[in-house]
Amino acid sequence: MVEMAPILVVENLCKRFYGNSGIVDAVDNVSFEIYEGECAGLIGESGSGKSTIAALVAGLLPPDGGSVSFLGKCLTSDKSGRPQKLYRNLQMIFQNPMAAFNPRYKMAESVAEGLRYYERLPSKRLRELAVSYMEMCGLTPGDGDKYPWQLSGGECQRAAIARAIISRPRLLICDEITSALDVSIQKQILELLADLQKRLNMSCLFISHDLAVVSQFCQRVMVMHDGRLVESGPVADIIGRPQNEYTKRLLASILTVSCPDTENIP
Ligand SMILES: Nc1ncnc2c1ncn2[C@@H]1O[C@H](COP(=O)(O)OP(=O)(O)OP(=O)(O)O)[C@@H](O)[C@H]1O
Ligand SMILES: [Mg+2]
Repeated sequence: MVEMAPILVVENLCKRFYGNSGIVDAVDNVSFEIYEGECAGLIGESGSGKSTIAALVAGLLPPDGGSVSFLGKCLTSDKSGRPQKLYRNLQMIFQNPMAAFNPRYKMAESVAEGLRYYERLPSKRLRELAVSYMEMCGLTPGDGDKYPWQLSGGECQRAAIARAIISRPRLLICDEITSALDVSIQKQILELLADLQKRLNMSCLFISHDLAVVSQFCQRVMVMHDGRLVESGPVADIIGRPQNEYTKRLLASILTVSCPDTENIP
């Protein structure tokens, strides 16, 4: 059951890049909210601005306009500066888990980094916590002594989830976190995430190309096209009764790719 209190409010967010081929309005006047305990999906073709939104919300990029409020505090106003401690409650996981870890650190040390910045704890306690969160994510205590290159992609992504949840965030931003994994591993990672999301009562902003994945994991979906949010609503409505022309085309292209017309193959 989703409670109706937004923990994230994004209003009129804008980000413009000046690239070699001209100006790109990567995020163009985007507004949305994410509610307590909710998983909201963000879909759209490559280059539509999904990762830029994630970076703006997580404070990795300054916006050119608009605002982001998280847990009632404005993250984007110049006056207050960036309230770093608030970011404990807002964590991110990315597509390539191997690249997300320093190859010189053992996994337990890297996972502990997710908490070390926010809480002063003795090293022994930090390590215990890191190992227990790794176990919660389906890894073994022995994995804590391994380096990232000694784990599989799926195991690395489990460790990335452990590092993100060790600070017990209220909002988790997942940017294409299953795209680099085999289909069978994707399913395991999604099941793990769905379980953790409920147990820890986190909200999620779940970014993906894959509508099947989004419909499995999210209650609501938002559709991006050329930097704009063109449609949003319950997953069943967007898939069953898309209103926007771009959403219809996006759905049609996904269905064509996943159900090729085998009769026409020579
Ligand atoms: N640092 C940057 N400098 C210049 N242009 C950028 C920069 N970051 C993103 N862009 C451009 O902004 C647009 C949106 O990019 P973004 O990475 O947000 O898309 P995306 O929806 O995440 O795509 P994908 O599905 O491929 O990950 C693209 O046209 C991209 O080329
Ligand atoms: Mg992206």
